[in-house]
Amino acid sequence: MVRAKSWTLKKHFEGFPKTSDFELKEVELPKLKDGDVLFESVFLSVDPYMRPYSGRVMKEGDTMIGSQVARVVESKNPTYPVGTYVVANSGWTTHFISDGKDLQLLPSWPEKLPKSLALGTIGMPGLTAYFGLLEICKIKPGDTVLVTAAAGAVGSAVGQIAKLGGCKVVGCAGSAKKVAYLKQIGFDEAFNYKTVGSLEEALRKASPDGYDCYFDNVGGEFSSIVLNQMKRFGRIAVCGAISVYNDIVPQKGPYVQAPMIWKELYMEGFLVTRWTNRHKEALQILLRWVEEGKIKCDEHVTEGFEKMPAAFMGMLKGDNLGKAIIQV
Ligand SMILES: NC(=O)c1ccc[n+]([C@@H]2O[C@H](COP(=O)([O-])OP(=O)(O)OC[C@H]3O[C@@H](n4cnc5c(N)ncnc54)[C@H](OP(=O)(O)O)[C@@H]3O)[C@@H](O)[C@H]2O)c1
Repeated sequence: MVRAKSWTLKKHFEGFPKTSDFELKEVELPKLKDGDVLFESVFLSVDPYMRPYSGRVMKEGDTMIGSQVARVVESKNPTYPVGTYVVANSGWTTHFISDGKDLQLLPSWPEKLPKSLALGTIGMPGLTAYFGLLEICKIKPGDTVLVTAAAGAVGSAVGQIAKLGGCKVVGCAGSAKKVAYLKQIGFDEAFNYKTVGSLEEALRKASPDGYDCYFDNVGGEFSSIVLNQMKRFGRIAVCGAISVYNDIVPQKGPYVQAPMIWKELYMEGFLVTRWTNRHKEALQILLRWVEEGKIKCDEHVTEGFEKMPAAFMGMLKGDNLGKAIIQV
């Protein structure tokens, strides 16, 4: 018999999550029925969306939502022999039984690449960067692209894909180490949004002519400031709003309408799931770019399933450089 450990939401988050909001539970899994597969999680992902989605889709006591790279350890389903790797959305759990539906087989994976990248650049965050840039920002060679949370999973891919597309790229991140990293992976300009005296001046210095595209991962006050630095007909992909996810009282304006009118801006929110029918093809492209060294992907790996809540809270605070991953 296999015992599965799972992290559950003990209490809905109020403001920034606390250790006491999580509870570790252990259950004995039943025997497999025909068609069933038993998986063990190898790598798990902690992502910003878990914070706002917990309030929207979870009840207290539910297993925390999330995805993992998992390996088959026992199978009564010929599609998933023992040893097969998949990406699953089974939440924060060490083991789970599946009937084989809603699993994504890992494509043929080069030995030299860690399978955890299927949760990062060659997974949902990479797809977010890819479709947000190509379908919403509609980047063209010569564009100047600004990206926030630039040293994270989505942002680091955004900057590098935009460079491949012939753009000038400016990134903002929350530490000197992250700023140095952005320069190292090819960003043209980067600054620490926490230490610059004036965000307006830093944005103007990085691109005196303004920005054609803004890939917005943070929302809030920062993004209001960016609106005034956009070029006429600029395009804004509203991807995430991590700067407001923990707010108890919603932030007030400045409001977007005036700069949107004067600069004739285009702003569109999106979810990566909009292009699910194209994910497979895009993952092949991302995998090729990574294999060819055109996109570098770093990870912030926390060892130990027990540390998942701490890794989640650390990611929300900015501890991670690259994709935040838990290795079981
Ligand atoms: N629309 C979609 O389908 C979709 C899909 C995936 C992700 N997203 C969104 O994309 C964004 C990035 O996600 P990710 O997975 O790549 O996470 P990530 O960037 O790897 O990690 C989150 C980062 O956000 C930054 N951050 C935290 N609080 C901040 C604040 N108040 N102001 C500015 N930056 C702050 C931190 O970096 P610093 O040290 O730089 O502050 C932290 O490392 C999130 O908003 C997420 O919700 C959207």
